[in-house]
Amino acid sequence: MKQDYRDLIIELDPQRLPQHIGIIMDGNGRWAKLHRRPRLYGHRAGARSVRNIIELAVELSLKSITLYAFSTENWNRPQSEVDGLLKLLIEMMHKEINEVHRQNVKIRTIGSRRNVNPDYMKKIDDTLSLTWDNTGPLINVAFNYGSQQEIIEAIMNWHQKANTDPERYPALTFASFEEHLFTAGLPPLDLVIRTSGEQRLSNFMLWQAAYAELYFTETLFPDFDKYEFCFALREFQERKRRFGALKDK
Ligand code: IPE
Ligand code: IPE
Ligand code: MG
Repeated sequence: MKQDYRDLIIELDPQRLPQHIGIIMDGNGRWAKLHRRPRLYGHRAGARSVRNIIELAVELSLKSITLYAFSTENWNRPQSEVDGLLKLLIEMMHKEINEVHRQNVKIRTIGSRRNVNPDYMKKIDDTLSLTWDNTGPLINVAFNYGSQQEIIEAIMNWHQKANTDPERYPALTFASFEEHLFTAGLPPLDLVIRTSGEQRLSNFMLWQAAYAELYFTETLFPDFDKYEFCFALREFQERKRRFGALKDK
């Protein structure tokens, strides 16, 4: 039997928790197949895991988590699944927003706004705006997110600003580039978790994950609970991070 997740929390060093965690929430479809149900049933089950993640973020006072919810490539799925996912996303936000707000959690979306129905985005923004002044954990929902798209948009936006305001943007630097990413203002990723056994980034935060610790688990996302999350955090704390340097110079 699984231990209680609280037994793992005791083993965590609260001073060395990751500042920014990315979660590639994968395996909903396979979970549904395993339970002989339609894929959307798996996505609904995945939404329950999101609730657990947010609860643990509150319990541990985690700073920021980015949840990969819908990629720029996920539009290539059957229309019925895309429609179901879009509907589920907004439905979940409506359903959870009051509880999330009560817990002082701030939720926002990150991703490209190009080619997304502006009415749809407005509905999401309106729902989430309730939480925007909250000071607890920040949850970024990566929707229509693709790292390559993000990098291209950042360069285009920087270029446009550099042309109109050459004094402020004399050259493309690390800082001026990062200012134009969807993740502007966020620290780089310390930890990327991917469920379902796949070991790839699938266009998730290629820039921000430069020195992230990667954690892959076979667990399908609907089965990813607080225990699994704490387990990943403990594993993170056991890693030796060097950032290319040597301690004893
Ligand atoms: C992840 O689960 C959720 C999204 C990509 C939206 P999948 O739908 O990719 O599930 P699998 O990988 O087919 O099992
Ligand atoms: C990555 O999962 C995208 C999200 C979790 C939103 P996918 O299931 O779309 O990725 P691939 O196709 O296995 O690389
Ligand atoms: Mg998948």
